[in-house]
Amino acid sequence: MKIAILPGDGIGTEIMAEAVKVLAVLDLKFETETALVGGAAYEAHGHPLPEGTLNLAKAADAVLFGAVGDWKYDKLERQFRPEQAILGLRKHLGLFANFRPAICYEQLTHASSLKPELVAGLDILIIRELTGDIYFGQPRGRRVAIDGHFPGAEEAFDTMRYSKPEIERIAHVAFQAARRRNKKVTSVDKANVLETFQFWKDVVTEVHAQYPDVALEHMYVDNAAMQLVKAPKAFDVVVTGNMFGDILSDEAAMLTGSIGMLPSASLDKSNKGLYEPSHGSAPDIAGKGVANPLATILSAAMMLRYTLNQPEAADRIESAVKAVLSAGLRTGDIWSEGTQRVGTRAMGDAVVAALSGKTITT
Ligand code: IPM
Ligand code: MN
Repeated sequence: MKIAILPGDGIGTEIMAEAVKVLAVLDLKFETETALVGGAAYEAHGHPLPEGTLNLAKAADAVLFGAVGDWKYDKLERQFRPEQAILGLRKHLGLFANFRPAICYEQLTHASSLKPELVAGLDILIIRELTGDIYFGQPRGRRVAIDGHFPGAEEAFDTMRYSKPEIERIAHVAFQAARRRNKKVTSVDKANVLETFQFWKDVVTEVHAQYPDVALEHMYVDNAAMQLVKAPKAFDVVVTGNMFGDILSDEAAMLTGSIGMLPSASLDKSNKGLYEPSHGSAPDIAGKGVANPLATILSAAMMLRYTLNQPEAADRIESAVKAVLSAGLRTGDIWSEGTQRVGTRAMGDAVVAALSGKTITT
């Protein structure tokens, strides 16, 4: 088994170092190879996703990804911007199924901006379609408008589209995931306005016929955004398109206390996958050693579970994270009165200590 390690930009390198350290103490049999991606790759090779990095990712069984992006690249032509690296990896590796679990750890109930009783015990799974929708739809671009409100004016456009097989495969993923959980799927759409999402709703309903043991509800995206902060525990599995999933998963992340806690898995049809924290490269705190490495460490656990077939090792990491939180260690994003503020490295060291059966002291 081979894991491609792509730390990326900003806090990416710092959080990745901790995840790699955690994987190393598990003493599992796999090789790792590291490569540049994002802005770092652009600086070195003139492209955010160089051939070598893409080939390494394709050849590997799994990819562990940090984060990409920095404001300083905002002026570059789109194809050279760091974000194109992650979009390109998703597309080229066929990673259409994005799992973003939002779990509120008991120890962090008070770190959420919502009332503790609303989030205590929260465990929902957002499944975001990741290779279609308005993110990848063609045509897109800029032109002079020939119609609309201002004919003759400069305009920009993107294309929202989904094919039936694209919706079917993500619907199957969602229903199957729900079977392993609380057997409820909420499909989020905007069928009241968009043709693409009326089609989405119709196709999901059709696929549902094969899963009579799973409950299906449909919800408009605006209402879903509201329900997520009103009664988040009413959800089990949420399945939605690429753009709605992007937005709702950030919202769901905050329910857990911090986006710094949220791992993710992006899988292809044979469960090969890319694993990354749901947060970005946070250039504002990069290099300061204060970023929360737990989302990346938990992403490594997801990698062990979904792609590398090592569920016990995944359980061990997740238990170690809980032990560290129980011991009161907190990075700045989850810190509250009465807990101990630690940096990135100390947090990683504490997870390693917990894995080695040592007591964690604050
Ligand atoms: C995410 C990110 C990406 C996305 C960006 C960096 C392209 O926000 O993984 O959610 O929009 O998908
Ligand atoms: Mn996002």
